[in-house]
Formats: sequence, C-alpha cells, structure tokens
Amino acid sequence: MDMTPHTMRNTSTNHQTDTGRTAGRQSHLPAAIVVEDLTVAYNSSPALWDIDLEVPSGVLMAIVGPNGAGKTTLIKAALNLVPRSAGTVLFHGKPYAKMRRIVGYVPQRGSVDWDFPTTVLDVVMMGRYGSLGWVRRPGRRERELAMAALHQVSMTDFADSQIGQLSGGQQQRTFLARALVQDAQIYFMDEPFAAVDAVTERAIVKVLQELRDGGKTVVVVHHDLSTVTSYFDWVTLLSVEVRASGPTKEVFTRENLDKTYNGRMDSLYIGEATESPSPERPLSHHTRTAWESA
Ligand SMILES: Nc1ncnc2c1ncn2[C@@H]1O[C@H](COP(=O)(O)OP(=O)(O)OP(=O)(O)O)[C@@H](O)[C@H]1O
Ligand SMILES: [Mg+2]
Repeated sequence: MDMTPHTMRNTSTNHQTDTGRTAGRQSHLPAAIVVEDLTVAYNSSPALWDIDLEVPSGVLMAIVGPNGAGKTTLIKAALNLVPRSAGTVLFHGKPYAKMRRIVGYVPQRGSVDWDFPTTVLDVVMMGRYGSLGWVRRPGRRERELAMAALHQVSMTDFADSQIGQLSGGQQQRTFLARALVQDAQIYFMDEPFAAVDAVTERAIVKVLQELRDGGKTVVVVHHDLSTVTSYFDWVTLLSVEVRASGPTKEVFTRENLDKTYNGRMDSLYIGEATESPSPERPLSHHTRTAWESA
C-alpha cells in the first residue's frame, strides 16, 4: 500500500493536529470525517471527552480501546443516535442530516432486535430504502442488488430465512450486506468480526479492503490487537479521550496502547517472551491477548 502522503506529514503520533488537517490520499478533498470538541455524557458522567478527530478519505480505520472506552458512543454520536453535550461531526464537510445517504452503519450485534419477524433479503433491501424515496417500493433492481450483496458475504442460501433463526456470524454478514447495498461513501461498523469464524472474518476483511480500495472510508470498531496492523491502514486509540490517531504504522505502538489501556497492557502477551518491544515500534501481528495465549 502506498503510504507516501502519510509519511510526508509530521511524525507526531496524533495526526489531528495542524498538519493532519489535510491528511489523506486525496488531500484535495475535505477529510471524510472531522470530529471537533465532541463530548458525550450519559447521566452526567462523560463517555467521550473533548474528541478531536480527522479521518481522511479512503482509509480503512480501526477504533481500538477497552470495553466502555466510548467506541460505540462515538459512532452513535456521529450518527445523531445519542445527544452530544458539545461538539460537531462533519462528513465531507457537512453534518450527518445532509449526508445520511452516503453514510452506512453496521451496529454492534447485541444492540439489534433479532426477533423482529423479517427475512434476510428484506433486511438487506432495507439498505436501499434511502435511495428509493417514499413512493417507490423495492422492485426487481433492489432485489438484484440485495442478492449480489448477499453473494459478496456468502449468504445467498439464507435469503429467505428469518433473521431470528440465523447464527451470530450469519446475522453479522446480513448486516454487512445491508450496508453494502446502500452504496455509501463512509461506513461505520461496530465489531463486525464479533461472533464470526476465522474464514468469515477473512472474507469480511476482504470486502472491507475492497471498499477502501474503491475510495470508500471504512471505520471499524475492533478488539483483536493481533490483527490491527494487517487489516487496517489507519487507527484511532480511544479511552474516553483520543489517545492517538493516524497511520497504523506510526500510531499502533506499545507506548500508545499503554496510554489507551491504562497500564493494563501488562495483561497482554507481546511477541516472543524474550523480545523487549521498543515503545515506538509498531506491534506486529504476533501480539496476542492473554486469553488467546492461554
Ligand atoms: N445508554 C446508555 N446509558 C448510560 N450509560 C451508557 C449508555 N450507553 C453507554 N453507556 C456508558 O458509556 C460508556 C461507553 O460505552 P460504549 O458502549 O460507547 O463503550 P464501548 O467502547 O463501545 O465498549 P464495548 O467495547 O464494551 O462495546 C460505558 O461506561 C457505558 O456504560
Ligand atoms: Mg461498543
């Protein structure tokens, strides 16, 4: 992957600063997502504190941080699903209300009511409603697009199944297909790899990388530190505040992970037992969490 435009910018780990403002492969375009001074509080305790973030167009970005770090809240606040105490979020320079159609969202699986009586194909076609308008009902074209998206995630055999009867990984793939038919420019996916097997995970990563290679911006909440460097070219480390954000190669370091996980990185097994990782060196795919190495 060509990282030239990234490496030409400053070497600070936090790319939301001045020179980062024009970040991205397509630096002539406004950034895909700009978050400024965003604070969100539930019952007066802040889940996000003064977030400044700039995501360039055409990156595949991981949001990484511990449980309760505010990852889901960040996505929900960007999509006006939870109220903000302060701050703004712009998509290609405009607020979400004006950019609804170009922003796709795959929610965290546990947050969806799967007992709702509807088929997989219907769920996927719902992704097209935004471009149908009020009058038209979904027709043959919508059906074809939905079937093509189901094919992309290897779910065509389940088109007529009730969503409540799917396994967790199949539900996840259904929601990915729904986002794909929307043909958005910017995608938010909250833990798309939760509950999927290794083969499916690789298939989904391929779909996400193809979206990125097609110029889309894809933001993924991700928990598996061992795959961050191989899957993502951009990363934001979050723990109520942004701890670091920028190209994975520069930002995904032991030092920044320590800041993000508040010293609880001691519970992580990193590389060879004899290896002493340099704080500035990006962690390799050998990184394993404690329970994986157990
Ligand atoms: N609807 C809500 N009402 C009150 N508090 C909430 C609500 N939603 C989230 N929170 C709190 O806000 C904080 C951030 O939650 P959030 O779901 O954004 O975390 P997360 O980083 O997505 O965590 P996880 O990795 O477990 O999905 C947590 O402390 C959580 O308990
Ligand atoms: Mg979450």
